[in-house]
Amino acid sequence: MIEVANRLHTVEEYYFSKKLREVNLLIANGKPIINLGIGSPDMQPPQKVIDAIANSFSNPNAHKYQSYQGLPELRDAMAAFYKEHFKVPLSPTSEILPLMGSKEGIMHISMAYLNEGDAVLIPNPGYPTYESVTKLVGAKSVFYELDEANNWAPDLKALSKMDLRKVKLMWVNYPHMPTGAQPSKFLFEELVAFAKKHNILVVNDNPYSFILNNSPKSILSVKGAKDVCLELNSLSKTFNMAGWRVGMVVGDSKHISNILKVKSNMDSGMFYGIQKGAIEALKCSSMWFSTLNSVYQQRRDLVWKLAEALGCSYDKEATGLFVWAKLPAHLKSEEFIDSVLKNNHIFITPGTIFGSKGEGYIRFSLCASTDVLEEALSRVI
Ligand SMILES: Cc1ncc(COP(=O)(O)O)c(C=O)c1O
Repeated sequence: MIEVANRLHTVEEYYFSKKLREVNLLIANGKPIINLGIGSPDMQPPQKVIDAIANSFSNPNAHKYQSYQGLPELRDAMAAFYKEHFKVPLSPTSEILPLMGSKEGIMHISMAYLNEGDAVLIPNPGYPTYESVTKLVGAKSVFYELDEANNWAPDLKALSKMDLRKVKLMWVNYPHMPTGAQPSKFLFEELVAFAKKHNILVVNDNPYSFILNNSPKSILSVKGAKDVCLELNSLSKTFNMAGWRVGMVVGDSKHISNILKVKSNMDSGMFYGIQKGAIEALKCSSMWFSTLNSVYQQRRDLVWKLAEALGCSYDKEATGLFVWAKLPAHLKSEEFIDSVLKNNHIFITPGTIFGSKGEGYIRFSLCASTDVLEEALSRVI
């Protein structure tokens, strides 16, 4: 019997990995399940992205190992994108590191900065990977609670009163998943001041800023933010490229070179064609965003109706790829989604997978066509 590493006992199989087995079994048994659980964009990337990837195959350099830091043209395109959309100037040579999706950045940043026993501030509700990676590197999760009453913003005054001496890293994620909350005007300024005061690296995970959101924001637009903040970004949702795995971490060169030390020991560069495709995506005009969002808007209108038909309430100001809906009082998220799965054959994510503060909420994905959403609606009204 070969024993696994102790760290493996700290994490469990990802919720979707388990639950989708159950959903797939229902499908195999002939149940017409509609999956509104996962946020995997179902639309195509821009055609020029597909063409660039396809055309790359005939380039003899496409098959070689690629640079650990990505193609210089890719970093140039990422810098131009940040300048255009967030008004943040970045050096393409030292302040940008392309990633294979932003998810891997969560591990690389944690490996670069956390020792065993260090503490990490993690949002509740929040993306489950922050906690699992923290456990895998032997650090300690310290959850900060987010409340609807405060538009899902951290209470930095209350946090400042805690003993933060062991805290090295804080994950923030605005626009926030799963709630879709936008950062208030001053939140990023306050976070930068908090990071400086307590000597904490604040990382804003920012993959949803272009979905149903007219004012994309970067934490790096705050003066002095680069010293104490990093930002993760991704092409997964913005350009329907989730399966291609392209993202980036941006920030001060000293942080980027620390992360590169980890990453360059983990992989040997991103496939050339994907980088060429990403360059084309990043150059898209505003037309791309308006076309994409007009589809998501139609879908969201239907999901709002579906949420209402299920007796839920929701915030019309929320952004992003999901609708976060509040259940009628006293209903439990997991029991509720199980009954909708059983009775209506619709799979919705229970809020509890994002932490205890997700109890009483459910999350609908907008990654389903209007036809599918109309069918879902017809099953509950
Ligand atoms: C909050 C958040 N961060 C990061 C990711 C990872 O995205 P990717 O690795 O595709 O860039 C996701 C994906 O669902 C997410 O919801």
